[in-house]
Amino acid sequence: MKNKKIALVTGGSRRIGASICKELHSSGIDIMIHYRDSKEEANLLKAELNKKRKDSADIVQGNLCEIDSYEKIIHTVIKRFGQLDYLINNASSYYPTHMGKLNEKDWNDLISSNLKAPLFLCQAAEKFLKEKKGSIINITDANESNPKKGYVIYNIAKSGLVSLTRSLAKDLSPDIRVNAVAPGAILWPEDDQESEQGYRENLISKTFLKKQGTPENISKAVLFLLTTALYSTGEVIHVDGGGTHK
Ligand SMILES: NC(=O)c1ccc[n+]([C@@H]2O[C@H](COP(=O)([O-])OP(=O)(O)OC[C@H]3O[C@@H](n4cnc5c(N)ncnc54)[C@H](OP(=O)(O)O)[C@@H]3O)[C@@H](O)[C@H]2O)c1
Repeated sequence: MKNKKIALVTGGSRRIGASICKELHSSGIDIMIHYRDSKEEANLLKAELNKKRKDSADIVQGNLCEIDSYEKIIHTVIKRFGQLDYLINNASSYYPTHMGKLNEKDWNDLISSNLKAPLFLCQAAEKFLKEKKGSIINITDANESNPKKGYVIYNIAKSGLVSLTRSLAKDLSPDIRVNAVAPGAILWPEDDQESEQGYRENLISKTFLKKQGTPENISKAVLFLLTTALYSTGEVIHVDGGGTHK
């Protein structure tokens, strides 16, 4: 089909990534769902999307801590769909790292998934995105400019991702637009790391809108940047209920 568009969503099988896949798919974009461990969820989402539109979704596995995964993932997208229009760097690891207990394993994991992989995926995808006058979205974090205590490595990685967004908006111009979406409190971590009494309520109370966001709030901002905000590049849209501006 002449106007076919293809998006690669990293960490796309669950939670916010899955919402991004569904939102883009419902606007007519075909989807490559990237996953690392969540094969079952990736396959279920693939089936759900293909039921809605035949042959419109597929899955690709890769551990984004491994340097050779970047070229392989992009190669798989091109082999399967023949083109790449949109790259959404959503995959992320997230946990506290306390001073005095920092170690290289956590550094490599957090920096690789949140910063190194987005950069090297952009490099691997550049040629293909350029052909399609494509677009990149990096999912950062609304707390990046007001870092959360005890998360120094994650915070460094997400700040780097904002810098990466602004740098590549220049370096990949004029053919490829590069923007970011910065979520606030959308979904709590599944390992209960933020379940301390009152923590969540306090966070929500600090937002202007006095409520938690939804994965759809994020995916709609991603779709907007990809398909509507065509004169924007190097931008970060905060989707955080106003929480970062306090
Ligand atoms: N949730 C929130 O409220 C919130 C707030 C601020 C920012 N964000 C940002 O929004 C994005 C999505 O958030 P989320 O909470 O939905 O994310 P998440 O569930 O914590 O993680 C998304 C996926 O990232 C993948 N991933 C992690 N490490 C990886 C690695 N080394 N290689 C490949 N894949 C890896 C995992 O895939 P598998 O399951 O397949 O292993 C995971 O399902 C993230 O960038 C996050 O930092 C979220």
